[in-house]
Formats: sequence, C-alpha cells, structure tokens
Amino acid sequence: MIYAHAHDVITDDVFVALPYLSRRADVYLKIEGFNPAGSIKLKTALGLVEDAERRGTVSVGVPVIESSSGNLGIALSSICAAKGYPFTCVVDPNTSQPAIAHMRALGAEVVTVRKTDSNGGYLHSRIAYIQERLQRQPEMVWLNQYANPANAAAHYDRTAKNLLAGLGHIDQLFVGTGSTGTFVGCARYLREHSPHTRIIAVDSLGSVTFGAEPGRRWIPGLGASRRPELCRPELAHEIVHVAEEDAIRECRRVARNTGLLVGGSTGSVLAAVAAREEGFRDRPRVAVISPDLGDRYLKTVYDDEWVNDRFGDVLAGEAPDLVGVPAGG
Ligand SMILES: Cc1ncc(COP(=O)(O)O)c(C=O)c1O
Repeated sequence: MIYAHAHDVITDDVFVALPYLSRRADVYLKIEGFNPAGSIKLKTALGLVEDAERRGTVSVGVPVIESSSGNLGIALSSICAAKGYPFTCVVDPNTSQPAIAHMRALGAEVVTVRKTDSNGGYLHSRIAYIQERLQRQPEMVWLNQYANPANAAAHYDRTAKNLLAGLGHIDQLFVGTGSTGTFVGCARYLREHSPHTRIIAVDSLGSVTFGAEPGRRWIPGLGASRRPELCRPELAHEIVHVAEEDAIRECRRVARNTGLLVGGSTGSVLAAVAAREEGFRDRPRVAVISPDLGDRYLKTVYDDEWVNDRFGDVLAGEAPDLVGVPAGG
C-alpha cells in the first residue's frame, strides 16, 4: 500500500484476543501502537491539526505549541515536520527520555517544566508555561487537546467506528482517560450506535479528573492534576481508579502470557478488567483500548529497579498464568 504521508499510516483494525485474562468473558485488545507515531494519539494529533487548518489558524511557518505527556507530542512532531509547522512541545519529568529524543529528532523544540502543581502533578505548570509563551509569542497557535472538541471527534469518527466494525458486537468497553478525548469520542459513538454497550472509564489513582483525591503519579498517559474541559463523566456507566502498581503488574502479566509488550496505560485498563472478573455474566464480549506499546516503558514499567525504587516490593510472585495456549501450538 502506498501512502502520501507517514501520518496517513493509521492502523485501526488490529485486535488481539486475551484468553489468559478471563475465564468468564471474551476480551479483545484494540492495538493502537502500530503506526509511525506509535500510539493512539496520532489520530488525536491529526484531528487537532486538520481542525486548525480548516479554521485557517495554522499554515506553513505558523508555530504550533501543545502540552503532552509524550505520545501526542511525538504524533504532532511527526505531522508538523511533514507540513512545515514549527512545533514546541511542553512536557514534564514523567515524560520518557526516548519520547523527548524522538520529538527532537523530528525537529521539535521540547520544553520540560519541573514545578509540581498543588495536586502533585504537572498539568497546571505545563499550561502556565504555554500561556506565558503565548504572551511572548502571540503568533503561536495552541491546539489545546484538553478543551478542543476536535480531540474527541477524532475518536468518534475513527477509533469508535473501527472498534465496533472490527468486533461487530461489544458488551463492555474499558477505556483509559488522560485528556479524555478517547473516552468522550468513543462513549458518544457507542451510546448512539450500540446503546447496550457498558462504558467503563479507567483513570489512575491520584488523578483528579473524576473528582478523586490528588496524588503522586509516575506513569505518563492516564490521569490529570486538573480536570480536562472536554471531560463528560456522565457518559461513563462506571468509573474505575487503578493504582499504578496494579497497572505495572498487569503490563508484565500480559507480556509473559502473550508475548505482547504494552504501555503503562494499557496495564491500568487491563487491571480494571481483571478486577471485574467475578462480576462477568453470560460471557460478555469485552473491548479494551491499548493506546501504545511497551517499548517506550523498558526503562520504567519493565525495569525492576525503577519499579522497586518507586513502589517497593510489588513484583513478588510474578509467574505466567499459562492458560489459553493449546499444547502443540
Ligand atoms: C499511553 C496513553 N494512554 C492513554 C492516553 C489517554 O488518552 P486520551 O488523552 O484520549 O484520554 C494517552 C494520552 O496521552 C496516552 O499517551
């Protein structure tokens, strides 16, 4: 297949069955990491940029700025490089060094804010930096993933439509929340096109998005120290908060059981599914969105020392579940 641009290579039809995870449900993981930006945020980035182009605020040479925990920054760096838009990404100390190097290799300016905000995160600080920079450089355009309806629209138009087309029937959807664009877009689409589907929004413990207590978080992707304007909690049938150590254990469990290395937020969402096991009735078809793969997390989630330093002794007893693989292949 020939594509005009790297950012046109969007794989929205890859699912992996996870028989090891549940004896009472059929669980399918929608893999979003097989594109040149390596994550679901390529669709978000394209939605935001194309919306700005339609409104005439962005064109060749106009500088673009955005806050990101890493993945949106990589996707925007790729798109902006191809389109000739100078791009500045504002990140924080939880953003991985490979993600920062990836953005810089694509020509982006990367600014790291280091001041934690009153909720123990960095989102207020990242946005304060953007506001200060816009005052200094008013020609810059802030795409604002947290408030821009084009973010959720990208997942209504693509992620959810392809999710339902690929699986045919979905009883329950487990979806992680960062900016909440994926959750809001998918929930709106499924409530219209598959009203029986139960939508479970998954957030990190320590995130304030759904009104929970703030706390320190280490893994980029899920959660926020400030509620994103886009968020519509009423679209979820249920909201689940997952501790980061449970996400880490679940990442390592899927790796050992399937050979697939997934990102930290996928582990959070899988931990939420595993915790629901006893409640599954009538063999539901469960969809789980996996926003990225694990190669960006080799020095964190998959590094014993990094995990032990931050979470203590949470890795004891790791062993394969060894179900779902018939003898002889
Ligand atoms: C790895 C990962 N998981 C989940 C999310 C959350 O997606 P959304 O911002 O659409 O809520 C992000 C967002 O950056 C992410 O990078």
